[in-house]
Amino acid sequence: MSQPLYPSDELLTKIADKWGTPVYVYYAPQIQRQCRALKKAFAHYPTEIFYAVKANSNLSILGLLKEQGYGADVVSIGELERALAAGITAENIVYSGVGKRFEEIRRAIEVGIRSFHVESLQELKQIGALTDQLSQTARISFRINPDIDAQTLPYIATGMHGTKFGIPEGDLEMALGIYQEYSKLQLVGLSCHLGSQITESRVFRAAGERLARICESLRKKSIELEFLDLGGGLAVQYDDENVLDVEEYAKALTEPLTGTGVKLFLEPGRWLVAESGHLVTRVLYTKQTPKKEFIIVDASMTELIRPALYGAKHPVHVLGKATPTFDLSDSKALFASLAQTREGAVDIVGPVCESGDFLIQDHWMTSPHPGDLISFRVSGAYGMSMASHYNSRPLPAEVLADKDSALVIRRRQSLESLWSDEVSVGESL
Ligand code: LLP
Repeated sequence: MSQPLYPSDELLTKIADKWGTPVYVYYAPQIQRQCRALKKAFAHYPTEIFYAVKANSNLSILGLLKEQGYGADVVSIGELERALAAGITAENIVYSGVGKRFEEIRRAIEVGIRSFHVESLQELKQIGALTDQLSQTARISFRINPDIDAQTLPYIATGMHGTKFGIPEGDLEMALGIYQEYSKLQLVGLSCHLGSQITESRVFRAAGERLARICESLRKKSIELEFLDLGGGLAVQYDDENVLDVEEYAKALTEPLTGTGVKLFLEPGRWLVAESGHLVTRVLYTKQTPKKEFIIVDASMTELIRPALYGAKHPVHVLGKATPTFDLSDSKALFASLAQTREGAVDIVGPVCESGDFLIQDHWMTSPHPGDLISFRVSGAYGMSMASHYNSRPLPAEVLADKDSALVIRRRQSLESLWSDEVSVGESL
């Protein structure tokens, strides 16, 4: 895969100077390039793509994806309303998630979404009962838990027995029995999502083969499906992973579907937006302790929790300076020869009161100075969408950049809004 497209350091610096730090900057040409590449890779097979809103749910990002012809995969009423607010029409929205609440289901039936991906027998009954009550139909798919190991981190593997996701294949007969009881349900597909940051094509192929086989068995029961939804999960390069080429990925998914006569649905999140994102932060202090050197910056785990939660490594780039091209193992020897320089392994950490508040550990670099700007690359997915207010930190601003221009797409949260929902004379029972 070719290098991602990056905004210039000059532009990132201007953005940080004008709107402050920490700030998320998304580079629009990179998102557009990914969107085009994915569509092209699947051009040989009838495919519809539903962007996984959870990866980055900013309205302007959703708008950008809509412009590229993408629908939305949502998992809550908040995401559903966001997608609708961004102008994505209900027939281009699919709804996954193990805990869809009554009022969430009702709203999704009312607006007429493309499909509920049903994750349990009880949820199936709940949706069925609501369609009867509202006298409205609902299109559904069964999200199958195929018990396939996605070969990824345990927290983001979702397609194995032992995880809470989907309906085990063994319960399919029971699901079909319940389905027959509700005349307003239409079974139009099967879905599965094995996990995220998947680097092996055989994992995707196995999922395609499994759903294709179930699709054939339903056909024998005279149930004709419209689609097989194979979820998201394609990995991006953070560190030294061997990521799949998008064409290889497309081949692994479409080959097993050839001859089934059904459409392929996809729900990519990370692959579309991750590499467009730059979390730009300013160095506050540097601190040498007996054991380690710390670079203390104004971003923290509240803006980017992936390092603390998953041990993820986001590439570090010091603005205005060349990115080191050697890794830590090579550079130990180098260190010996460069002992008089200020190069060494540092932890880049935030101001939050947790030892787990690090953005990267043991990172080899020339120590930056207070005031320098650092960007954490590949942070466009699951960065801002997982941000929190811990330590009463306001959410950062988000900026959408083009080659020479930039637009604030979410203003930095005001301090007052941190407590504006906390009423001093609250409601009581
Ligand atoms: N479809 C479903 C049903 C999902 O649960 C997910 C992600 C996706 C699609 C999109 O997967 P992607 O293409 O982005 O891999 N917070 C974690 C990732 C959690 C992913 C959850 N589900 C992280 O930061 O790595």
